[in-house]
Amino acid sequence: MTALLPASSAAIERAAEILRSGGLVAFPTETVYGLGADAASPHAVAALYAAKGRPRFNPLIAHIATLDAAMREATLPAPAQRLAERFWPGPLTLVAPALETGSVCELARAGLPSVALRVPAHPTALALIEAFGGAIVAPSANRSGHVSPVTAEHVMSDLAGQIDLILDGGRAAAGLESTIVAFLGERATLLRPGATPREAIEEALGQKLAQAGESVLAPGMTASHYAPRARLRLDALTLERGEAGLDFGGALAARGEPVALDLSPSGDLKEAAANLYAHLRALDARGIARAAVAPIPGQGLGEAIRDRLRRAAS
Ligand code: TXA
Ligand code: MG
Repeated sequence: MTALLPASSAAIERAAEILRSGGLVAFPTETVYGLGADAASPHAVAALYAAKGRPRFNPLIAHIATLDAAMREATLPAPAQRLAERFWPGPLTLVAPALETGSVCELARAGLPSVALRVPAHPTALALIEAFGGAIVAPSANRSGHVSPVTAEHVMSDLAGQIDLILDGGRAAAGLESTIVAFLGERATLLRPGATPREAIEEALGQKLAQAGESVLAPGMTASHYAPRARLRLDALTLERGEAGLDFGGALAARGEPVALDLSPSGDLKEAAANLYAHLRALDARGIARAAVAPIPGQGLGEAIRDRLRRAAS
């Protein structure tokens, strides 16, 4: 049985207790809901991979409450510390060489010598980390390969019966996963675009980010991630037969095309990011088999939105 509780302090205490005994708890973050387990426990982490149906070669992000806690897990070079000071708590994940004395177990790191770290900007997530008293690994709380959850109900529909508890903290505000930046070689490298725009990171670094591409660096970034059942056709300005319209800024509507949903009628990327996963799930809920998606600009949050749509379409 999976319990669903509003994220009161009593519920957070209970969640911390479940984590201490090796159980699995879904909790809200500012990006998407995460599925948490004790980062130090190979047993709990194995259960987490199994509950999600996630391949064990895809490492997890460890959630901590402070930069100090991050420095106990990894060797963060000065520019990484600068990003942490600028963007934490917030939707930025830093990948860096793991310290031998760190707490994140090898299974959670998928055997890699590096570790992914982030301080989430959500009061429930932070309170849970504090109450638990250690690092919590948390992938998005969806079935592996499916669309990430932005509500407790999404988590329930993907993982009911597989996990112990879901803390309900309402809808996740950003709606897109964290941006992942690696500090492993000479240059800071963008592993995954996300809710912190690349431009803001490059400005803070005073340098362009290197591009990872589809390399071994980002083992989780396989195509056909984030996929709804509906087939998507991107950058569409007209509908083909049998397609529903997923609009942005009213572009399809302005051409007289029928529109099922609009990511942001006013053409606002922040709103589109917040709506993206809920709209993809809504297409499936309405039994829509094929959708044409209006063009979305590639700057700012648009880079991550386009990345997720490309993966959802493949
Ligand atoms: O916003 C987020 O980041 C959410 C919330 C819950 O915090 N979490 C999330 O986790 O998106 P997940 O598991 O869905 O994505 C984690 C990504 C994967 O693509 C994984 O390959 C990558 O992080 N990753 C983790 N550790 C890594 C490492 N050591 N090197 C390279 N990539 C790593
Ligand atoms: Mg995920």
